[in-house]
Amino acid sequence: MTELSGGPSLSQERRVVTAIPGPKSQELMARKQAAVAGGVSTTLPVFAVRAGGGVVEDVDGNSFIDLGSGIAVTTVGNSAQAVVRRASAQLEQFTHTCAMVTPYEVYVEVCEELAKLTPGDHEKKSALFNSGAEAVENAVKIARAYTKRQAVVVFDHAYHGRTNLTMALTAKNMPYKHGFGPFAPEIHRVPVAYPFRWPTGPENCAQEAAEQAIDKITKQIGAENVAAILIEPVLGEGGFIEPAKGFLPAIRQFAADNGIVFIADEIQSGFCRTGQWFACEDENIVPDLITTAKGIAGGLPLAAVTGRAEIMDAVHGGGLGGTYGGNPVACAAALGAIETMRELDLNAKAKRIEEIMKGRLTALQEKFDVVGEVRGRGAMIAIELVKPGTKEPNPEVTAAVAKHCHQAGVLILTTGTYGNVIRFLPPLVIGEDLLNEGLDVLEEAFAGLK
Ligand SMILES: Cc1ncc(COP(=O)(O)O)c(C=O)c1O
Repeated sequence: MTELSGGPSLSQERRVVTAIPGPKSQELMARKQAAVAGGVSTTLPVFAVRAGGGVVEDVDGNSFIDLGSGIAVTTVGNSAQAVVRRASAQLEQFTHTCAMVTPYEVYVEVCEELAKLTPGDHEKKSALFNSGAEAVENAVKIARAYTKRQAVVVFDHAYHGRTNLTMALTAKNMPYKHGFGPFAPEIHRVPVAYPFRWPTGPENCAQEAAEQAIDKITKQIGAENVAAILIEPVLGEGGFIEPAKGFLPAIRQFAADNGIVFIADEIQSGFCRTGQWFACEDENIVPDLITTAKGIAGGLPLAAVTGRAEIMDAVHGGGLGGTYGGNPVACAAALGAIETMRELDLNAKAKRIEEIMKGRLTALQEKFDVVGEVRGRGAMIAIELVKPGTKEPNPEVTAAVAKHCHQAGVLILTTGTYGNVIRFLPPLVIGEDLLNEGLDVLEEAFAGLK
């Protein structure tokens, strides 16, 4: 498994050799609690020492099947060879000059790749940043500078980050916004086409949601005041919601008709995660601006705004940037990650993961009536859990299933506005046996529910 990383001796297996968390993790957790702010919480309280392919190994020698990828980041696997090779070479050359002081080639190369890979054949430019939230903030700045308008339209269940502006753009109060206001003004929230929970049923969802969203924009905000409409083509933290087909094209068209910059936030859904380079390709959406991060650089912090050259160039010199934005080591890692995605055809890999997971999870849904819906695309798949015979959210069972999986050596994540969604984000290089074993454990968790 050297090709996949984590070092040649990292075996691709699930292995539980202590109670979870083990003694060494418990010791480290005591130190964490003494030294690290309580707001930085932990999903699975074990301390990682190595990771690669489809596993994360902890200090006690336990090896977890990784169905989370560090929240959709290690798409190419941890320490993927090409990422390590390119980033290491860059570390030897120089670590920082500041792209705004003396630029360097890898920054430009990443922007050239983004121009090629993102949807649309128009002239494109990019700017690089450190985190997803920073990319979203900058996309809004760029859209405002271009349109000379202020309002920004976002959607129910949206998640865009934890900085002040992106908290305002995010829908869910707890834990993201609670106690942190006041928030930035001129943010307006409209309905999204969430088929599973649409009051008049999934078949009416796309049209009715688009009508309601557009009505709110035109009547309450005024389309001529709107700088940007910002949407995740598959909503991530909101619960892996795939807007009903037809909704995104309707909103995209409305933006085009009204001189509004359409921004696709592909920070979680981008870079092969859904079986396409970008999730908005699914309905042939060409955004004006697209934000990326997470999967772009194989685990190093890098983010980007990419878009129409005339929009990107609307900002005055010095108006975009930051000390570390487009750090050379992170850029080199991104080139390694993109090389890996191409060489291993990770879009095909994501589709294969979807095939396996949808098959297994649909069978699970037939067996266990708490599974309300199986949804998602590629390696961005979720199940929404409900009280049997209803659509009432079931966060208790969600937490119990996650706990069982963690104890048994499978790292899964939960999400959703109602805390009742289990999301699966395996690295795209995970072995099929390992993936199936992870799903066996998930099934055991459901079978053991009281
Ligand atoms: C769609 C989306 N936008 C923005 C962000 C924020 O990215 P970051 O945590 O890198 O700031 C996230 C992170 O989960 C995300 O999923």
